Amino acid sequence: MRILITGASGGVGQALMARLPEAIGLSHSQLDVTDAQAVMQSIVDVAPQLVIHCAALTNVDRCAQMPHEALYVNGFGTQNVALACQKVGAALCYLSTNEVFDGERGTPYGEYDPMSPVNPYGYSKYVGEQIVRELVPQHYIVRTSWVFAHNGRNFLHRIVGLARNGKSLSVVTDEVACPTYAEDLAEGIIALVRTERYGTYHLTNQGAVSRYAFARAILDAYGMADYPITPIVKAQFNRPSRPPTYSALQNTFAALIGITLRNWRAALDAFVEHERQKI
Ligand SMILES: NC(=O)c1ccc[n+]([C@@H]2O[C@H](COP(=O)([O-])OP(=O)(O)OC[C@H]3O[C@@H](n4cnc5c(N)ncnc54)[C@H](OP(=O)(O)O)[C@@H]3O)[C@@H](O)[C@H]2O)c1
Repeated sequence: MRILITGASGGVGQALMARLPEAIGLSHSQLDVTDAQAVMQSIVDVAPQLVIHCAALTNVDRCAQMPHEALYVNGFGTQNVALACQKVGAALCYLSTNEVFDGERGTPYGEYDPMSPVNPYGYSKYVGEQIVRELVPQHYIVRTSWVFAHNGRNFLHRIVGLARNGKSLSVVTDEVACPTYAEDLAEGIIALVRTERYGTYHLTNQGAVSRYAFARAILDAYGMADYPITPIVKAQFNRPSRPPTYSALQNTFAALIGITLRNWRAALDAFVEHERQKI
């Protein structure tokens, strides 16, 4: 299958590229998804059968400070990709997020539960989902959460970096979701797009955990079990974006066709082991 990947140098993009050496991956510097003409040209030139659209503005605090930019990249950029897919008859796999849900219910969200984003990042990704549904019938919408990848900056790297530098750590206990290893997610996405069972899917590592408990597990896995972390609540953490409180995603539909990701704790151990082997 001829596959084109946007945002190919991001955390998920790189994990996909490592498993799909025949795919054409375009990084931000090679293709800005907000450039409608360039997106159309690239996709017409490659004529892919499938586009995996990973490019996005993922910094939730920046999205909160610049909601128009979030909508421009995650909404308009997705519209550009979707229209080009429509033109060449390509299927589209769109990466989305737990943050399309408000997190108020206190139980895991199913694939077809009503969305109600509570921050500009979540809203921009929700808009992207709606655009994909409207424009490309042959689509996969894959929601995931709290991705930890070997490259780039993410929560895991931030926690380890701060601890290694002896900085104080305060982490919230009232934000809960499912941590997801980018390598496991990439495998799940690849298995899914081979099925041609289009629809909306939740792919995360199994198990939900608070940011605080996740940070604790990260430090344990890195041999820093005694490093202190102060538990706080969101109200004590001054940040631009307001994350949903409980946004665990329930994988129902991918599980029915045999696609599940292992438990997040086992995935974290695998991540750390892989990092050790790199040294
Ligand atoms: N990371 C998570 O925790 C998480 C959770 C749920 C869903 N997702 C979704 O999963 C997808 C992949 O995320 P990720 O974890 O791989 O994030 P990432 O590491 O931030 O990768 C996103 C990539 O998109 C690129 N990008 C940003 N603006 C662009 C533009 N205008 N045109 C083209 N490329 C652009 C970025 O390039 P630069 O860095 O050079 O700008 C980056 O390489 C995204 O759709 C995201 O919303 C991620």
